[in-house]
Amino acid sequence: MGEDRVLVLKTFAAPLELRTRRTLLRQWKDSDLPAWCAMNADAEVRRYFSATLGFEQAVQEAGRIRAAIAQRGWGMWALELPGQMAFAGTVGLHVTTIDAPFVPTVELGWRLCREAWGRGLATEAAQAAMQFAFDQLQLDELTAYTAEENLPSQAVMQRLGMQHDAADDFDHPLIAPGQPLRRHRLFRLRRTAT
Ligand SMILES: CC(C)(COP(=O)(O)OP(=O)(O)OC[C@H]1O[C@@H](n2cnc3c(N)ncnc32)[C@H](O)[C@@H]1OP(=O)(O)O)[C@@H](O)C(=O)NCCC(=O)NCCS
Repeated sequence: MGEDRVLVLKTFAAPLELRTRRTLLRQWKDSDLPAWCAMNADAEVRRYFSATLGFEQAVQEAGRIRAAIAQRGWGMWALELPGQMAFAGTVGLHVTTIDAPFVPTVELGWRLCREAWGRGLATEAAQAAMQFAFDQLQLDELTAYTAEENLPSQAVMQRLGMQHDAADDFDHPLIAPGQPLRRHRLFRLRRTAT
């Protein structure tokens, strides 16, 4: 692990929800799983990940995400578009566990079903998560990272006002040397910048 900092993570007794004009960020439901599994089986959604996820792997990942929200009250929420789409993906906050120079950190993340792309929904929902992290959790900084090639995700980071410094770029520790997608870009946003 890298930076010599301690993260104090505020927890809440019950899962929190965030609302924006078009989105609801909420705790996951069992009924989200079919759409979540279909999304993670979509090669276009998983284009900048190492592989698509099989049903079991996807269910396990959803379980870990849901447990993290149950534990802290916040996390990678299920994204609902009220009146339109019961489940459109996930957006929120993740306590990074990889061994990287910028850890410990809380990162912003997003993964949307293809039908929800191109409407500004990832940015709108991530803005709410960002405000929550700064106002309620009182975090000093948020990060986000993705493969160098994942320009759509970097565009979300830029729309959120996050800054990229090439000196922070890193090789993802869980992607083997020589594999495509290993090189990652890190973006940061300080609380004072919002
Ligand atoms: C990364 C990802 C969430 C980005 O989704 P996105 O739809 O491009 O991002 P946004 O929700 O911010 O939408 C922005 C787009 O909506 C358009 N848009 C349309 N209506 C809009 C509105 N009312 N408000 C804002 N933007 C709008 C914008 O012009 C922009 O389009 P452009 O990229 O053609 O310029 C999506 O590509 C994805 O889920 N990818 C797969 C998973 C992934 O890679 N996750 C990141 C891993 S680190």
